[in-house]
Amino acid sequence: MLVLGIESSCDETGVALYHTERGLLAHALHSQVAMHAEYGGVVPELASRDHIRRVLPLTRQVLKEAGCTLQDIEGIAYTEGPGLAGALLVGASIAAALAFALKVPTVGVHHLEGHLLAPLLEDNPPAFPFVALLVSGGHSQLMEVTGIGQYTTLGDTLDDAAGEAFDKTAKLLGLGYPGGPALSKLALRGTPGRFKLPRPMLNSGDLNFSFSGLKTAVLTLANQHRNDAQELDEQTRADICLAFQDAIVEVLSKKAVAALRQTGLSRLVVAGGVGANKQLREGLSHAAAKKRFEVFYPKLEFCTDNGAMIAFAGAMRLRREGRRTMNFPIKPRWDL
Ligand code: KG4
Ligand code: ZN
Repeated sequence: MLVLGIESSCDETGVALYHTERGLLAHALHSQVAMHAEYGGVVPELASRDHIRRVLPLTRQVLKEAGCTLQDIEGIAYTEGPGLAGALLVGASIAAALAFALKVPTVGVHHLEGHLLAPLLEDNPPAFPFVALLVSGGHSQLMEVTGIGQYTTLGDTLDDAAGEAFDKTAKLLGLGYPGGPALSKLALRGTPGRFKLPRPMLNSGDLNFSFSGLKTAVLTLANQHRNDAQELDEQTRADICLAFQDAIVEVLSKKAVAALRQTGLSRLVVAGGVGANKQLREGLSHAAAKKRFEVFYPKLEFCTDNGAMIAFAGAMRLRREGRRTMNFPIKPRWDL
């Protein structure tokens, strides 16, 4: 079955073609980062308008790359939620219109399920069951995954998500948007050990996270080191970035290991935008070697939002529960 996937929940338009026997045939992405950067964050109305401009050209592009035509498409998956309502509606309505014209089924995919299953697109995919550390701009969760659609939440964030903490911290240090990549780049020049920030909830005895206090601790530290012009020198900013990243990576890694211990599982999957963080990957790979578990990641380009994960998750769902309705619901707020 050939499935077209459309992702439009936030600021990336992603389109992909996944074939249930032949695998991922083509994928294309348009990032709106440059457009939103001058506003310091995503402007929802601009995001929707740009998705409208991009979905069909990207669809033509992936069809051409895969050597397919519109008529070869046998199912369409779109991101149903969570996300920005207007942005979601663009993907949902284009999916519904195409599906109506082509007389094929559509399926709405949970954006987080897309992230969660992205490592299964790799050549050496993890077998079920596994623990997933899902760390994106909107979510920080530990989940026990026993099969497609079988997810149990083991831990969640009580306030900011990991990516949100990276973004907000980067903003208060005067770094660009999106903050995660900018902050981790500057952290490379940080002095190890100059600052030590708290490890929130590390010893809470459960698998929940809380990152808003860490952001406040960064603000306090930054204020202590501002010069008369209220500015931070470049080295101090880099040192704060490193201390922040050390703290967040230690909490995420240790809680992930605790989740493996609690469930008795030995496979860990890391997904979502923060999964692209090099220090987190190094920390987890180090723990995996020491504590004898396996760790799986999507390719870097499939950590952040993309159409391939939606095409894949949609294909898994359509294969099991193929459906065709004239509705194209969206769910801007939706728990997995
Ligand atoms: O999964 P994603 O693309 O979108 C959501 O579904 O939220 O994740 C985006 C988040 C942003 O908060 C971004 O700052 C963060 O992932 N991120 C990173 C890195 N790359 C992206 N955080 C830390 N280090 C990175 N290298
Ligand atoms: Zn995402």
